[in-house]
Amino acid sequence: MKIFIDTAKIDEIQEAFSWGIIDGVTTNPSLIKSALDELKNKGEKIDIETYIKNILEIAKGFPVSLEVIGSNFEEMYKEAKILYEKFNKISNNVVIKIPINPSLGEKGNYDGLKTIYKLSKDGIPVNVTLIMKVEQAILASKAGAKYVSPFAGRIDDYLRNKIKWNDFKKEDYYPENGIKFKEEVINDEGILSGVDLVRKIVDVFNKYNFETEIIAASIRNSRQVRELAQTGVHIATVPFYVLSEMLVHNKTAEGMRKFVQDVVPEYRNVFYK
Ligand code: G3P
Repeated sequence: MKIFIDTAKIDEIQEAFSWGIIDGVTTNPSLIKSALDELKNKGEKIDIETYIKNILEIAKGFPVSLEVIGSNFEEMYKEAKILYEKFNKISNNVVIKIPINPSLGEKGNYDGLKTIYKLSKDGIPVNVTLIMKVEQAILASKAGAKYVSPFAGRIDDYLRNKIKWNDFKKEDYYPENGIKFKEEVINDEGILSGVDLVRKIVDVFNKYNFETEIIAASIRNSRQVRELAQTGVHIATVPFYVLSEMLVHNKTAEGMRKFVQDVVPEYRNVFYK
């Protein structure tokens, strides 16, 4: 499984790349807002184009997803071209993120699919975002997407909200096989959790040898990463705090303390005389 980092914070991207475990970067307008807000609070001046260039340079050799901001075909296609033309020349690693359904209301529009198809035909790699159902992933792949990004954590949020369960923290674990409530496992048309959504997309894509890679996104905790890995998903895009959580275990720390305590002078002398 590849691991992407889901952030627009340069210090986090730089740090995670220095560990040799990162295979790509995903951003979106909310992640860019959070990164820039942090800098603005420190009183730093921001040149957004230089900022994006820095990210692309750090991630050289690995894909970086940059998202459009429009909600119809004309806007999204134009913005995708602007992003690609401005930034792909830096490190040749730009992927354009397009929402599967850019409609802001209940009803769908087909502009996402149209944009995915046109950009893919132009040879521009597309990461289709805001995937909440298997059916959307199938359509995105058929339209030519290089990646689809199912939002696991947001599906868990949605399932909790169905039973008005509001007192949970964003990073709380949600069981991959769902939660029983009044004799029924809470589900979204048969989807039991975010991990279950990803598992079902993996299953369908494997059955038909779809070439589109699946990026499990909206990941909230370390256990979710493990369960996603067990689905065989190609990629998990992980926020920095989850990467840290993946590393930590009480017994590892306890073991470490004991090793440090047990170093005898003779052994220390091997290294430090
Ligand atoms: O990659 C998508 C991700 O950034 C959304 O995460 O936690 O806001 O649902 P979240």
